Amino acid sequence: MKTFKRIDKICSAVELAKNEFYDRQIVVADIATDHGYIAEKLSKKSFVKEVVATDISAKSLNKLEKLIEFRKLSHINCVLGDGLAPIDHADVSVIAGIGGYEIIKMLNCQNINSDFERKCDVFVLQPAQNVNELREYIIKNKIFMLKDFIIYDEDRFYPIIVINLSKKQRNKLSIFNVWLGRDNQVSEPDFVAFLYETMEYLSFLNDIPKKRIFKDKVLKQKYKLKKLVNKLLNRRELC
Ligand SMILES: C[S@@+](CC[C@H](N)C(=O)[O-])C[C@H]1O[C@@H](n2cnc3c(N)ncnc32)[C@H](O)[C@@H]1O
Repeated sequence: MKTFKRIDKICSAVELAKNEFYDRQIVVADIATDHGYIAEKLSKKSFVKEVVATDISAKSLNKLEKLIEFRKLSHINCVLGDGLAPIDHADVSVIAGIGGYEIIKMLNCQNINSDFERKCDVFVLQPAQNVNELREYIIKNKIFMLKDFIIYDEDRFYPIIVINLSKKQRNKLSIFNVWLGRDNQVSEPDFVAFLYETMEYLSFLNDIPKKRIFKDKVLKQKYKLKKLVNKLLNRRELC
């Protein structure tokens, strides 16, 4: 996915995390690197000391190895393996372009509910699917969320979530926080575009009798979401 805006925003989120949690250069892990464009961009940032790029597939990792050779990149260390298993330590880890459940599995390996030393505390997450399930996991485990926002790039929406496992925070398990992302604002064009797309997706509810909607847990949730999205779009029009 050579999505430049997405990659830029992921790198900006890493910088945001660095400024919030560290006052020195940092080691960044790019988990599931594949083509390595995120690792490449990060390796050129002055606040990054080193990038450790991992992938479970040797074929995928080889793409980055070739890129390093072709573009004569430095400060990137490629390691083969599952999730964070092949790394010793990172200050910030990026996990982008893989599913929410796979990300949850990787976080679960990091002792999220104990003070045992972890390989990494701070994560920049960009799930490719199941973002709601990932948000529910973060909120239910009271994981500190620095930022949760959405961007639009190349015909797709990408949520980006920054968390710190060493800090605790209570966030409400609300429809807004789970479905729309805690920090999104109606003043942001990408979020407004996302609201319109969500509204379009929810339009199937118009053809279902209310009685049926209220008998079904999932449909009822979606109905509540539709009302909320409608309210947000109206509020935006008033601005
Ligand atoms: C769509 S690419 C994502 C590339 C890049 N992170 C991005 O966001 O542009 C998915 C990559 O994840 C790798 N992958 C999948 N499961 C993994 C795991 N458990 N550990 C490490 N890499 C994994 C795959 O081999 C593939 O190269």
